[in-house]
Amino acid sequence: MLDEKKIKKWLITMEIFADTANLNELQEFNSWGVIDGCTTNPIICVKSGITDFEGHMKKILAMIDGPVSIEVTTNDLDEMLMQAHMFATWGDNVVVKLPMNIPGLKATKVLSEEGIKTNVTACMSTKQAILAAKAGATYVSIFWARIEDMGYDASIVVKDTREILDKHRMQSKIIIGSFRSMSHIITAMKTGAHVLTIPSDLLKNMHWNPRTESTINEFLDQWNGFHKDNDPMAKKILVSQDGELVRKH
Ligand code: E4P
Repeated sequence: MLDEKKIKKWLITMEIFADTANLNELQEFNSWGVIDGCTTNPIICVKSGITDFEGHMKKILAMIDGPVSIEVTTNDLDEMLMQAHMFATWGDNVVVKLPMNIPGLKATKVLSEEGIKTNVTACMSTKQAILAAKAGATYVSIFWARIEDMGYDASIVVKDTREILDKHRMQSKIIIGSFRSMSHIITAMKTGAHVLTIPSDLLKNMHWNPRTESTINEFLDQWNGFHKDNDPMAKKILVSQDGELVRKH
């Protein structure tokens, strides 16, 4: 019997990851049913005040039903491979995040040949992303806002990268990270990237719109105003003594 959930996930061509290491935020976003994975980096971990790095990452790996990117903290190839092999034992959904530089490319080649998933990060140009893809990266991460900071159009970098990957049947997936505004996110969604990794300060407000809120309140006010103490739903759903909602048949 084919797993319907897996088919649906396979059919959807854009994924959303949460760009945070905060366990409470990840639990909350998970409960919304909107995230497919998670990305972390050394700054995100420092900002979350993580001291037990292994323990914390293992909690995220257990919580998230999808890929979790954990970044190496060195530019030395041997240390990178040592860290990568250690991370890979922490969970099946580990993706080792490697810097876009020569040791990072070398490590990507070795790890992808070993079947370990990799995410080459801090790519600011199509040429970097294509090199990472050639080295066998599972994901190539393109940094939207940091590209825009340099005065370049990030959407062109992503579109060109996607076009070249598709044209040459390269299997790497594009992650866009480094978002600073909602308009970045909407524009990025139209570029054909496979994944958007969104920081929690933006992700937690994506659902909100003042007109949506006032409209829902208007609906409920009208309903409650008409039914007053004779609400048919209140008759069907009761609160039990221990505060649980129970349905009355
Ligand atoms: C994601 O993988 C990146 O590490 C992150 O989005 C970078 O964001 P920043 O440019 O805001 O540091």
